[in-house]
Amino acid sequence: MVTNHTLQDVIDRLQKGGVVVLPTETVYGLAANALSEDAVRSIFSIKERPLNDPLIVHVLDATWIDRYAVCDEYYDRVKKVTSHFWPGPLTIILPKRDVIPGIVSAGHSTIALRCPEHPIFREILQSLQLPLAAPSANPFGYISPTTADQVRSTLGDKVDLIVDGGNCRVGLESTIVDITSHIPKILRPGAVTAAEIARAINEPVMDYEQHVVALDPSCPGQLKQHYCTNTKLILFTHATLPQPNNNAHCAYIFNQKPINIEELANTLSTTIGSIFWLSEDGNHKAIAHNLFKTLQTLDNANYDIIYCERTLRNDIGTAIDDRLLRAAAKFNNQ
Ligand code: TXA
Ligand code: MG
Repeated sequence: MVTNHTLQDVIDRLQKGGVVVLPTETVYGLAANALSEDAVRSIFSIKERPLNDPLIVHVLDATWIDRYAVCDEYYDRVKKVTSHFWPGPLTIILPKRDVIPGIVSAGHSTIALRCPEHPIFREILQSLQLPLAAPSANPFGYISPTTADQVRSTLGDKVDLIVDGGNCRVGLESTIVDITSHIPKILRPGAVTAAEIARAINEPVMDYEQHVVALDPSCPGQLKQHYCTNTKLILFTHATLPQPNNNAHCAYIFNQKPINIEELANTLSTTIGSIFWLSEDGNHKAIAHNLFKTLQTLDNANYDIIYCERTLRNDIGTAIDDRLLRAAAKFNNQ
Protein backbone atom coordinates (compact mmCIF):
# COMPACT_ATOMS: atom_id res chain seq x y z
CA MET A 1 0.00 0.00 0.00
CA VAL A 2 1.05 3.57 -0.52
CA THR A 3 1.93 5.31 2.72
CA ASN A 4 -0.22 8.35 3.50
CA HIS A 5 2.61 10.65 2.65
CA THR A 6 3.29 9.09 -0.73
CA LEU A 7 -0.39 8.78 -1.51
CA GLN A 8 -0.82 12.51 -0.88
CA ASP A 9 2.20 13.26 -3.12
CA VAL A 10 0.72 11.17 -5.90
CA ILE A 11 -2.70 12.81 -5.57
CA ASP A 12 -1.18 16.31 -5.53
CA ARG A 13 0.92 15.57 -8.56
CA LEU A 14 -2.03 14.19 -10.51
CA GLN A 15 -4.29 17.07 -9.48
CA LYS A 16 -1.69 19.54 -10.75
CA GLY A 17 -1.59 17.85 -14.16
CA GLY A 18 1.55 15.81 -13.49
CA VAL A 19 2.40 12.30 -14.65
CA VAL A 20 3.15 9.41 -12.26
CA VAL A 21 3.90 5.74 -12.72
CA LEU A 22 1.40 3.41 -11.05
CA PRO A 23 1.22 -0.37 -10.75
CA THR A 24 -1.70 -2.25 -12.23
CA GLU A 25 -2.37 -5.99 -12.25
CA THR A 26 -1.37 -6.16 -15.95
CA VAL A 27 1.66 -3.87 -16.46
CA TYR A 28 2.85 -0.56 -14.96
CA GLY A 29 1.02 2.50 -16.29
CA LEU A 30 2.11 6.10 -16.97
CA ALA A 31 -0.86 7.92 -15.47
CA ALA A 32 -2.31 11.44 -15.74
CA ASN A 33 -5.68 13.16 -15.39
CA ALA A 34 -7.69 12.05 -18.43
CA LEU A 35 -9.77 15.26 -18.31
CA SER A 36 -6.75 17.50 -18.84
CA GLU A 37 -5.45 17.85 -22.37
CA ASP A 38 -2.11 19.20 -21.15
CA ALA A 39 -1.60 16.38 -18.66
CA VAL A 40 -2.34 13.82 -21.35
CA ARG A 41 0.02 15.57 -23.77
CA SER A 42 2.81 15.04 -21.22
CA ILE A 43 2.18 11.28 -21.30
CA PHE A 44 2.63 11.24 -25.08
CA SER A 45 5.81 13.27 -24.86
CA ILE A 46 7.38 11.16 -22.05
CA LYS A 47 6.67 7.96 -23.98
CA GLU A 48 7.55 9.53 -27.33
CA ARG A 49 4.30 8.03 -28.48
CA PRO A 50 2.70 9.20 -31.75
CA LEU A 51 -0.45 11.24 -31.18
CA ASN A 52 -2.46 8.87 -33.40
CA ASP A 53 -2.25 6.03 -30.86
CA PRO A 54 -5.13 6.46 -28.35
CA LEU A 55 -4.91 5.88 -24.59
CA ILE A 56 -6.96 3.78 -22.18
CA VAL A 57 -8.89 5.65 -19.48
CA HIS A 58 -8.99 4.01 -16.04
CA VAL A 59 -12.06 4.28 -13.81
CA LEU A 60 -12.87 3.13 -10.29
CA ASP A 61 -15.96 1.12 -11.18
CA ALA A 62 -18.79 0.72 -13.68
CA THR A 63 -20.73 3.64 -12.19
CA TRP A 64 -18.14 5.99 -13.72
CA ILE A 65 -18.73 4.77 -17.28
CA ASP A 66 -21.70 7.00 -17.98
CA ARG A 67 -19.65 10.13 -17.21
CA TYR A 68 -17.19 9.44 -20.02
CA ALA A 69 -18.98 7.16 -22.49
CA VAL A 70 -22.42 6.67 -23.99
CA CYS A 71 -23.64 3.17 -23.37
CA ASP A 72 -27.39 3.44 -24.19
CA GLU A 73 -27.63 0.80 -26.89
CA TYR A 74 -24.85 -1.31 -25.38
CA TYR A 75 -26.25 -1.20 -21.87
CA ASP A 76 -26.82 -4.98 -21.56
CA ARG A 77 -23.39 -5.89 -22.84
CA VAL A 78 -21.74 -3.30 -20.61
CA LYS A 79 -23.62 -4.52 -17.57
CA LYS A 80 -22.69 -8.13 -18.21
CA VAL A 81 -19.00 -7.63 -19.03
CA THR A 82 -18.39 -5.22 -16.19
CA SER A 83 -20.13 -7.39 -13.61
CA HIS A 84 -18.12 -10.42 -14.76
CA PHE A 85 -14.69 -8.95 -15.33
CA TRP A 86 -14.32 -5.62 -13.47
CA PRO A 87 -12.16 -4.84 -11.69
CA GLY A 88 -9.72 -6.78 -13.85
CA PRO A 89 -7.71 -7.01 -17.07
CA LEU A 90 -10.46 -6.16 -19.57
CA THR A 91 -10.77 -2.87 -21.49
CA ILE A 92 -14.00 -2.02 -23.31
CA ILE A 93 -14.51 0.33 -26.26
CA LEU A 94 -17.58 2.60 -26.21
CA PRO A 95 -18.67 5.88 -27.86
CA LYS A 96 -16.85 8.77 -26.14
CA ARG A 97 -18.42 11.77 -24.43
CA ASP A 98 -17.01 15.25 -25.13
CA VAL A 99 -15.76 15.72 -21.58
CA ILE A 100 -12.81 13.49 -22.53
CA PRO A 101 -10.43 15.58 -24.68
CA GLY A 102 -9.85 14.36 -28.23
CA ILE A 103 -6.13 13.85 -27.58
CA VAL A 104 -6.97 10.87 -25.32
CA SER A 105 -8.73 8.98 -28.09
CA ALA A 106 -6.45 10.29 -30.85
CA GLY A 107 -9.44 11.94 -32.48
CA HIS A 108 -11.54 8.76 -32.59
CA SER A 109 -15.19 8.97 -31.54
CA THR A 110 -14.72 6.04 -29.16
CA ILE A 111 -13.03 5.65 -25.79
CA ALA A 112 -11.23 2.68 -24.21
CA LEU A 113 -12.28 2.19 -20.56
CA ARG A 114 -10.69 -0.08 -18.00
CA CYS A 115 -11.21 -0.68 -14.29
CA PRO A 116 -7.92 -1.86 -12.78
CA GLU A 117 -7.77 -4.37 -9.96
CA HIS A 118 -4.50 -3.34 -8.30
CA PRO A 119 -5.27 -1.99 -4.79
CA ILE A 120 -2.83 0.93 -5.08
CA PHE A 121 -4.30 2.13 -8.38
CA ARG A 122 -7.79 1.77 -6.91
CA GLU A 123 -6.85 3.68 -3.78
CA ILE A 124 -5.61 6.54 -5.94
CA LEU A 125 -8.73 6.60 -8.13
CA GLN A 126 -10.88 6.54 -5.00
CA SER A 127 -9.09 9.50 -3.41
CA LEU A 128 -8.66 11.48 -6.60
CA GLN A 129 -12.15 10.98 -8.04
CA LEU A 130 -10.78 11.64 -11.54
CA PRO A 131 -10.36 9.27 -14.49
CA LEU A 132 -6.74 8.42 -15.28
CA ALA A 133 -5.35 7.97 -18.77
CA ALA A 134 -2.53 5.44 -18.56
CA PRO A 135 -0.62 3.67 -21.30
CA SER A 136 2.00 1.09 -20.40
CA ALA A 137 4.99 2.84 -18.79
CA ASN A 138 7.56 2.02 -21.48
CA PRO A 139 9.15 4.12 -24.21
CA PHE A 140 6.95 3.72 -27.30
CA GLY A 141 7.57 0.38 -29.01
CA TYR A 142 9.63 -1.15 -26.19
CA ILE A 143 8.68 -3.98 -23.81
CA SER A 144 5.95 -3.14 -21.28
CA PRO A 145 7.20 -3.06 -17.67
CA THR A 146 5.95 -5.47 -15.03
CA THR A 147 8.25 -4.22 -12.25
CA ALA A 148 9.08 -0.73 -10.95
CA ASP A 149 12.77 -1.36 -11.71
CA GLN A 150 11.99 -1.91 -15.37
CA VAL A 151 10.29 1.50 -15.47
CA ARG A 152 13.19 3.16 -13.66
CA SER A 153 15.69 1.79 -16.14
CA THR A 154 13.86 3.16 -19.18
CA LEU A 155 11.86 6.23 -18.04
CA GLY A 156 13.59 6.99 -14.71
CA ASP A 157 15.12 10.21 -16.01
CA LYS A 158 11.74 11.48 -17.24
CA VAL A 159 9.38 10.59 -14.36
CA ASP A 160 10.42 10.96 -10.74
CA LEU A 161 7.31 9.57 -9.07
CA ILE A 162 7.21 5.82 -9.58
CA VAL A 163 4.96 3.93 -7.16
CA ASP A 164 6.32 0.43 -6.56
CA GLY A 165 3.48 -2.06 -6.26
CA GLY A 166 5.54 -5.21 -6.75
CA ASN A 167 5.47 -7.59 -9.71
CA CYS A 168 2.33 -7.23 -11.83
CA ARG A 169 0.13 -10.29 -11.35
CA VAL A 170 -0.86 -10.87 -15.00
CA GLY A 171 2.22 -9.54 -16.78
CA LEU A 172 0.55 -8.76 -20.15
CA GLU A 173 -1.63 -5.78 -21.07
CA SER A 174 -5.42 -6.01 -20.73
CA THR A 175 -7.66 -7.64 -23.30
CA ILE A 176 -9.41 -4.97 -25.41
CA VAL A 177 -12.91 -5.73 -26.66
CA ASP A 178 -14.90 -3.47 -28.95
CA ILE A 179 -18.49 -3.89 -27.82
CA THR A 180 -19.83 -1.28 -30.22
CA SER A 181 -19.50 -3.53 -33.26
CA HIS A 182 -22.40 -5.72 -34.39
CA ILE A 183 -20.48 -8.76 -33.18
CA PRO A 184 -18.18 -7.68 -30.34
CA LYS A 185 -14.54 -8.19 -31.33
CA ILE A 186 -11.24 -8.58 -29.57
CA LEU A 187 -8.81 -5.82 -30.59
CA ARG A 188 -5.98 -7.00 -28.34
CA PRO A 189 -5.80 -10.47 -26.79
CA GLY A 190 -5.05 -10.66 -23.05
CA ALA A 191 -5.82 -12.66 -19.94
CA VAL A 192 -9.60 -12.47 -20.48
CA THR A 193 -10.39 -14.56 -23.56
CA ALA A 194 -13.01 -14.17 -26.31
CA ALA A 195 -14.67 -17.39 -25.14
CA GLU A 196 -15.00 -16.08 -21.58
CA ILE A 197 -16.52 -12.81 -22.79
CA ALA A 198 -18.90 -14.69 -25.12
CA ARG A 199 -20.08 -16.80 -22.17
CA ALA A 200 -20.56 -13.72 -20.01
CA ILE A 201 -22.66 -11.80 -22.54
CA ASN A 202 -24.29 -14.86 -24.08
CA GLU A 203 -23.41 -13.66 -27.59
CA PRO A 204 -20.68 -14.60 -30.05
CA VAL A 205 -17.44 -12.64 -29.79
CA MET A 206 -15.05 -12.43 -32.71
CA ASP A 207 -11.63 -13.51 -31.59
CA TYR A 208 -8.60 -11.58 -32.55
CA GLU A 209 -7.44 -13.95 -35.29
CA GLN A 210 -10.87 -13.96 -36.94
CA HIS A 211 -10.73 -10.33 -37.97
CA VAL A 212 -7.17 -9.03 -37.91
CA VAL A 213 -7.27 -7.30 -41.23
CA ALA A 214 -3.64 -7.59 -42.19
CA LEU A 215 -2.56 -5.68 -39.07
CA ASP A 216 -3.83 -2.34 -40.36
CA PRO A 217 -1.62 0.30 -38.68
CA SER A 218 -4.32 2.97 -38.99
CA CYS A 219 -6.54 0.90 -36.69
CA PRO A 220 -5.58 1.55 -33.05
CA GLY A 221 -3.58 -1.20 -31.41
CA GLN A 222 -2.63 -2.99 -34.61
CA LEU A 223 1.04 -2.08 -34.83
CA LYS A 224 2.91 -4.98 -36.33
CA GLN A 225 6.12 -4.14 -34.48
CA HIS A 226 5.82 -3.51 -30.78
CA TYR A 227 7.26 -4.72 -27.49
CA CYS A 228 10.62 -4.90 -29.31
CA THR A 229 13.87 -5.79 -27.63
CA ASN A 230 17.03 -4.05 -28.83
CA THR A 231 18.75 -7.42 -28.98
CA LYS A 232 17.85 -9.59 -31.96
CA LEU A 233 14.94 -11.84 -30.98
CA ILE A 234 14.28 -15.12 -32.79
CA LEU A 235 11.30 -17.35 -32.01
CA PHE A 236 11.22 -21.12 -32.12
CA THR A 237 8.57 -23.73 -31.45
CA HIS A 238 8.41 -26.71 -29.15
CA ALA A 239 8.97 -28.96 -32.18
CA THR A 240 12.10 -27.26 -33.51
CA LEU A 241 15.07 -26.30 -31.36
CA PRO A 242 17.35 -23.52 -32.67
CA GLN A 243 20.51 -24.73 -34.41
CA PRO A 244 23.69 -24.39 -32.31
CA ASN A 245 25.33 -21.03 -33.04
CA ASN A 246 29.00 -20.86 -32.10
CA ASN A 247 29.51 -17.44 -33.64
CA ALA A 248 27.17 -15.56 -31.34
CA HIS A 249 26.51 -15.20 -27.61
CA CYS A 250 22.95 -16.50 -27.35
CA ALA A 251 20.29 -16.76 -24.62
CA TYR A 252 17.59 -19.42 -24.88
CA ILE A 253 14.18 -18.94 -23.23
CA PHE A 254 11.96 -21.99 -22.82
CA ASN A 255 8.37 -22.09 -21.67
CA GLN A 256 9.05 -24.67 -19.03
CA LYS A 257 12.01 -25.86 -17.02
CA PRO A 258 13.98 -28.28 -19.24
CA ILE A 259 14.11 -31.83 -17.85
CA ASN A 260 17.82 -32.23 -18.47
CA ILE A 261 19.52 -28.86 -18.73
CA GLU A 262 23.04 -30.23 -19.24
CA GLU A 263 21.97 -32.39 -22.13
CA LEU A 264 20.06 -29.47 -23.63
CA ALA A 265 23.10 -27.19 -23.27
CA ASN A 266 25.19 -29.82 -25.11
CA THR A 267 22.63 -30.09 -27.89
CA LEU A 268 22.58 -26.31 -28.30
CA SER A 269 26.34 -26.14 -27.90
CA THR A 270 25.97 -23.56 -25.13
CA THR A 271 26.32 -23.24 -21.34
CA ILE A 272 23.60 -23.96 -18.82
CA GLY A 273 23.85 -20.31 -17.70
CA SER A 274 22.45 -19.23 -21.06
CA ILE A 275 19.29 -21.30 -20.67
CA PHE A 276 16.24 -19.68 -19.07
CA TRP A 277 12.63 -20.71 -18.54
CA LEU A 278 9.39 -18.84 -17.91
CA SER A 279 7.61 -21.45 -15.80
CA GLU A 280 8.30 -24.68 -13.95
CA ASP A 281 5.63 -26.69 -15.74
CA GLY A 282 4.50 -24.82 -18.88
CA ASN A 283 1.60 -23.06 -17.12
CA HIS A 284 0.52 -20.20 -19.41
CA LYS A 285 -0.30 -17.80 -16.58
CA ALA A 286 3.22 -18.18 -15.18
CA ILE A 287 4.71 -17.70 -18.67
CA ALA A 288 2.70 -14.48 -19.15
CA HIS A 289 3.71 -13.28 -15.68
CA ASN A 290 7.43 -13.72 -16.38
CA LEU A 291 7.70 -12.93 -20.09
CA PHE A 292 8.32 -9.15 -20.25
CA LYS A 293 10.57 -9.11 -17.19
CA THR A 294 12.74 -11.91 -18.57
CA LEU A 295 12.93 -10.32 -22.03
CA GLN A 296 14.00 -6.97 -20.59
CA THR A 297 16.58 -8.55 -18.25
CA LEU A 298 18.14 -10.50 -21.12
CA ASP A 299 17.94 -7.48 -23.42
CA ASN A 300 20.24 -5.69 -20.96
CA ALA A 301 22.63 -8.61 -20.61
CA ASN A 302 24.76 -8.22 -23.74
CA TYR A 303 23.56 -11.22 -25.70
CA ASP A 304 23.85 -11.11 -29.50
CA ILE A 305 20.66 -13.10 -29.96
CA ILE A 306 17.76 -14.07 -27.70
CA TYR A 307 15.93 -17.23 -28.78
CA CYS A 308 12.45 -17.54 -27.27
CA GLU A 309 9.99 -20.42 -27.50
CA ARG A 310 6.45 -19.67 -28.76
CA THR A 311 3.35 -20.80 -26.85
CA LEU A 312 0.28 -22.67 -28.00
CA ARG A 313 -2.48 -20.26 -28.93
CA ASN A 314 -5.06 -21.17 -26.34
CA ASP A 315 -6.31 -19.21 -23.29
CA ILE A 316 -3.72 -16.52 -22.40
CA GLY A 317 -1.32 -18.30 -24.81
CA THR A 318 -2.92 -16.34 -27.67
CA ALA A 319 -1.88 -13.07 -26.00
CA ILE A 320 1.63 -14.35 -25.21
CA ASP A 321 2.18 -15.47 -28.79
CA ASP A 322 0.75 -12.19 -30.13
CA ARG A 323 3.28 -10.18 -28.08
CA LEU A 324 6.15 -12.46 -29.12
CA LEU A 325 5.32 -12.22 -32.83
CA ARG A 326 5.23 -8.42 -32.64
CA ALA A 327 8.41 -8.30 -30.56
CA ALA A 328 10.27 -10.42 -33.12
CA ALA A 329 8.73 -8.76 -36.21
CA LYS A 330 11.50 -6.23 -36.72
CA PHE A 331 14.16 -8.98 -36.81
CA ASN A 332 12.31 -11.24 -39.25
CA ASN A 333 14.12 -10.04 -42.34
CA GLN A 334 17.61 -9.85 -40.91
O1 TXA B 1 -3.27 -3.36 -19.31
C1 TXA B 1 -3.38 -2.29 -19.89
O2 TXA B 1 -4.31 -2.03 -20.66
C2 TXA B 1 -2.28 -1.24 -19.62
C3 TXA B 1 -2.39 -0.76 -18.18
C4 TXA B 1 -1.42 0.34 -17.85
O3 TXA B 1 -3.71 -0.43 -17.89
N1 TXA B 1 -2.39 -0.15 -20.54
C5 TXA B 1 -2.04 -0.28 -21.84
O4 TXA B 1 -2.12 0.89 -22.55
O5 TXA B 1 -1.67 -1.32 -22.34
P1 TXA B 1 -1.40 1.12 -23.96
O6 TXA B 1 -1.56 2.56 -24.26
O7 TXA B 1 -0.01 0.62 -23.90
O8 TXA B 1 -2.26 0.31 -24.95
C6 TXA B 1 -3.55 0.79 -25.21
C7 TXA B 1 -4.08 0.21 -26.46
C8 TXA B 1 -3.40 0.79 -27.66
O9 TXA B 1 -2.99 -0.25 -28.52
C9 TXA B 1 -4.48 1.64 -28.30
O10 TXA B 1 -4.35 1.67 -29.67
C10 TXA B 1 -5.76 0.93 -27.84
O11 TXA B 1 -5.46 0.56 -26.53
N2 TXA B 1 -6.90 1.86 -27.80
C11 TXA B 1 -7.06 2.94 -27.02
N3 TXA B 1 -8.20 3.60 -27.31
C12 TXA B 1 -8.77 2.91 -28.31
C13 TXA B 1 -9.97 3.09 -29.07
N4 TXA B 1 -10.78 4.11 -28.87
N5 TXA B 1 -10.26 2.17 -30.03
C14 TXA B 1 -9.41 1.13 -30.25
N6 TXA B 1 -8.28 0.91 -29.56
C15 TXA B 1 -7.95 1.80 -28.62
MG1 MG C 1 1.68 -0.23 -24.51
